[in-house]
Amino acid sequence: LRDVRGGLTQRLVVASAVLAVVVAAAFAVLLSSVSQLRDLQEQARQSGDVLVGANHLEKLVVDLEAGQRGYIITGQDEFLQPWQAARDAIPGQIRQLEGLVANNAAQSAAVRQIGQTITAYLDDYSIPLVNTARTNPPAARTAEATAEGKTRLDALHGEFDRFVATETAKSEERQASATNADRQAEAAATFGLAGSIVLVLAFAAYLTLAIARPVRRAAVMAGRIAGGDLAVRLPERGPGEVGVLQRSFNTMASSMQQSRDELAASRARIVAAGDQARRHIERDLHDGIQQRLVSLVLDLRAIEAEVPDGSVGQVAEGLAAALDELRELSRGIHPAILSEGGLVPALKALARRSAVPVELDLDVSSRPPEPVEVAAYYVVSEALANAAKHAEATVVGVTVHSDSERLTLRVHDDGVGGATPTPGSGLIGLEDRVEALGGTLTITSPPGEGTVLAVDLPLAAR
Ligand SMILES: Nc1ncnc2c1ncn2[C@@H]1O[C@H](COP(=O)(O)OP(=O)(O)OP(=O)(O)O)[C@@H](O)[C@H]1O
Ligand SMILES: [Mg+2]
Repeated sequence: LRDVRGGLTQRLVVASAVLAVVVAAAFAVLLSSVSQLRDLQEQARQSGDVLVGANHLEKLVVDLEAGQRGYIITGQDEFLQPWQAARDAIPGQIRQLEGLVANNAAQSAAVRQIGQTITAYLDDYSIPLVNTARTNPPAARTAEATAEGKTRLDALHGEFDRFVATETAKSEERQASATNADRQAEAAATFGLAGSIVLVLAFAAYLTLAIARPVRRAAVMAGRIAGGDLAVRLPERGPGEVGVLQRSFNTMASSMQQSRDELAASRARIVAAGDQARRHIERDLHDGIQQRLVSLVLDLRAIEAEVPDGSVGQVAEGLAAALDELRELSRGIHPAILSEGGLVPALKALARRSAVPVELDLDVSSRPPEPVEVAAYYVVSEALANAAKHAEATVVGVTVHSDSERLTLRVHDDGVGGATPTPGSGLIGLEDRVEALGGTLTITSPPGEGTVLAVDLPLAAR
């Protein structure tokens, strides 16, 4: 696995990391917005408590003033009860309010100021006034009628108003940032979701393009190789390991193709060498022993006239018969007529000598290359011999057709069928011969339905 830099594993890790970062970032923003919202909600609740507390304290002051005034005007003790109750409740209420604004320095100072103003009102005005009313009601009524109480109370109400206004403003500010945090959370959720979907889709598309499609192609290619088409190749553009797989696949297909070509070539050489040897033997028989026997027959015919008892004539006839047999034998070894006249006359000669009647249909425009002619000749020769030996056929049809690219040949008999190539026999030899030339031989021979030999031979050597 060389050069798998930027391999699939690495790419998958990077893509997963990007996805994780996007989702994590979106979640982080979302979580921080949610916690911000929770804080703001808590602060809003607190603000509400502060306003209620301030309101309550102000009401206590109003109660105080009303009770004090009622007592001074009527002199009845029952008015002192609310006055006393307000007096008792005020310190606790101030402490509570202080506790509520403890984390805000400005508001704390404001509460302290309010507390001081109330204490001053009580100590310097309200309590002395009530005491005076107990002993000298008219004097108290005169004092009450002055503007002092009203001035003090107005100042106090002013302090309350400012305090409440500040708290309300703060609350509104918080409301605004709550709306903002809300929007932020919404945006983070939307972005996170959309981003994740886009990334996942992109990832799926990438996986389909980078892995699923090349694998599907490789499977198709493997199928074609299994079917014998070794010329197919894959594009080598796949990423990482897929690219390595594609290159290995192509290398494998190339070496298979090369091996097959070499095998075919060596088969062709073996067949050609055999043919060559047979041609030589035939030549030697023809030019050597056959010529000498011919001249011996001629010599004997010359002597025959001088020896009248006929014995020499008998020898001459015997010799002529032996010569015929020798001719027949050398034709079987290699048909001279094939080399000299070509396929058409050679096949006609075969048909003439066949034991089963033959119907020829020859359509061969120009002479095919010699190895193709020789192969076609031996196919017909073996098929005719088989038809005579095994088929019990009444007729054999031979069809040959050739154009500029291929020669097709069909021999069919109407015999018993059931032909199967057995090792070392004629049909296997034909297969070797035909396939050595890159051709195909198909035998169809169902029992009882005759036998068809179909051959397809390319004219150009591969
Ligand atoms: N045309 C045919 N009709 C019926 N049976 C056939 C035919 N051709 C071949 N066969 C059967 O198939 C077998 C194999 O044939 P093949 O030509 O390979 O061998 P063979 O003819 O027996 O031997 P060889 O060809 O070497 O002389 C034969 O033995 C025969 O039983
Ligand atoms: Mg045979």
